Amino acid sequence: MKLERTSYCGEIKKDDLGAEVILMGWVHRRRDHGGVIFIDLRDRKGIAQVVFNPEHNPDIHKLAHKLRNEFVIGIRGSVRERPEGMINKNLPTGDVEVLVDELVIYNEAAVPPFLIDEFASVTENVRLKYRYLDLRRPEMQKNIITRHKAAMSVRNCLSKEGFIEIETPFLTRSTPEGARDYLVPSRVNLGSFYALPQSPQLFKQILMVSGYDRYFQIVKCFRDEDLRADRQPEFTQIDIEMSFVDIKDIIKATEKLLAALFDDILGIKVKPPFPQMSYREAREKYGTDKPDTRFGLELDDLTDILRDAGLKVFSEAVKSGGVIKALTVPDSGDLSRKELDNTVGFAQDRGAGGLAWARVTEKGWQSPIAKFFAPEAIEAVEEKTGAKLGSTIFFVADDADITDAVLSDLRLQMGRRFNLIDDSAFNFLWVHEFPMFEYSKEEKRYVSMHHPFTSPIDEDMDKIETNPEEMRAMAYDIVLNGNEIGGGSIRISNSETQRKVFSALGLGDAEAEEKFGFLMEALTYGAPPHGGIALGFDRIVMLLCGTDNIRDVIAFPKTQRATCMMTGAPTDVDKKQLDELGLKLTAAALAPKKEG
Ligand code: AMO
Ligand code: AMP
Repeated sequence: MKLERTSYCGEIKKDDLGAEVILMGWVHRRRDHGGVIFIDLRDRKGIAQVVFNPEHNPDIHKLAHKLRNEFVIGIRGSVRERPEGMINKNLPTGDVEVLVDELVIYNEAAVPPFLIDEFASVTENVRLKYRYLDLRRPEMQKNIITRHKAAMSVRNCLSKEGFIEIETPFLTRSTPEGARDYLVPSRVNLGSFYALPQSPQLFKQILMVSGYDRYFQIVKCFRDEDLRADRQPEFTQIDIEMSFVDIKDIIKATEKLLAALFDDILGIKVKPPFPQMSYREAREKYGTDKPDTRFGLELDDLTDILRDAGLKVFSEAVKSGGVIKALTVPDSGDLSRKELDNTVGFAQDRGAGGLAWARVTEKGWQSPIAKFFAPEAIEAVEEKTGAKLGSTIFFVADDADITDAVLSDLRLQMGRRFNLIDDSAFNFLWVHEFPMFEYSKEEKRYVSMHHPFTSPIDEDMDKIETNPEEMRAMAYDIVLNGNEIGGGSIRISNSETQRKVFSALGLGDAEAEEKFGFLMEALTYGAPPHGGIALGFDRIVMLLCGTDNIRDVIAFPKTQRATCMMTGAPTDVDKKQLDELGLKLTAAALAPKKEG
């Protein structure tokens, strides 16, 4: 390699006129204008136009005929102004070009499966398979660099605030965060397994017992759960724990961190303190514990008004313990009949028995259910919901969780449909006073809403044996524009309370001892009051980058089926490896596998 780079392609400018530069990069595009060859040369910083002129240098021009997309080259040449008519205002280097005196071809490239700026026509799986090509795209480079800057900003801010970063093990035992564990078999201890951490929860609490007040870590977490657009099986947290604090200290530290981050990355001054809302209020008004508060459209509970109003499906839903709730969208008279009818399928997809709608028109309600109701009921609904001429009311009568799931999703859909969401706004919201437990029908027992190390609100502690479902936790989530970007709690710092909570979760003393004995023992050796939070780093970077796909901000992400399209992981392993680990595959595991 005899050339030595003097500049990045994306950084040459008018100041360089006349100067000799040496650039290295990839052939982004090639144009042959009747003799003169123009190459857009691309590197990490951008694109420069380089010119091969047969009159200027016939040998080099001849060599340049070989160049194709994605060849890797180096050139030496002089910077000159682009001729009138070839100036490209959209490119930072758009008014200069480099007339080439020397060309080195470092490597040829196979014909790529997609052009770097024509990726939109290929499926995401193809992009993931050829991730090295996809990552060459300027948008992806921008995201990955933003991610780096965000990590630097977080480290700087937390370090300045007296936090220290401490690593915790990946080969460890199960930390219950509500997902399945990824297990790693031990060869040395045949028949035993490590679990990859769902979070560093137990280690950070132990670090508080050890006196490392103000811990943080930017750390990978592993969860085997159903994946969605904002979920990955391995993802990154900004994990934080503090001693001698209460909720307001943790909230303050988190707000300071987020304010610094948004200022550093976007130059946006977000203004703490962020609004706070109880879990109960969030569920009532928005049907979700992560409401997007950039727009209104709050839900109304119509259970009392409509339980006996004459519609059987409504009465029956309430009789079997359900609720009747409504979403009212003003000025929505232009919703077509088809759009209205589609909402029924939308509700059924989310598990509801159905959905009813009513249009408020000059001739009264236009609705498949209007005929069941007396005028007084209709009037009461209009009063409660604030529905006016031109409004549409959507009703769901079902189990409270299903009703809320349908109406909160419909609220977002209508918010977008009627352009009610300000895309430039960043609305942070703290949701607190979560229930301590929720009943799992699947497991037929209470499970922790946050995790089993979360402290109950003191005044609710007396309900632990009688009405655990009414207990509130000292837990909080931070929500940004409808995304849960973090969650945390004040922890139980006393082994007796911890034992009681395990017991409410159906964990007997022996089982609790077996699984978490080390934690309970540690708590007996002088545990300070402590608490913390973990922020979803990938989700935050996603929002900073303005994308709604978490995979766009992770260099090598996994698909919805938790596979890596590039490496093919997870893969079969040799029988020898299995034997060493004392493992044998069942018939189900040996059955032919599905793709991707
Ligand atoms: P929690 O389970 O709420 O809390 O996780 C904290 C935050 O991590 C993000 N997150 C995810 N991001 C991408 N993919 C996933 N699969 C995924 N799962 C979670 C979310 C979430 O808010 N140990 C506790 C924290 C604590 O109590 O301090 C914990 O892990 O943004
Ligand atoms: P039906 O008596 O089943 O014909 O239902 C009467 C109306 O109520 C129809 O418009 C249904 O779409 C609607 N509906 C049915 N089930 C529900 C439900 N669980 N919640 C809200 N509306 C429903």
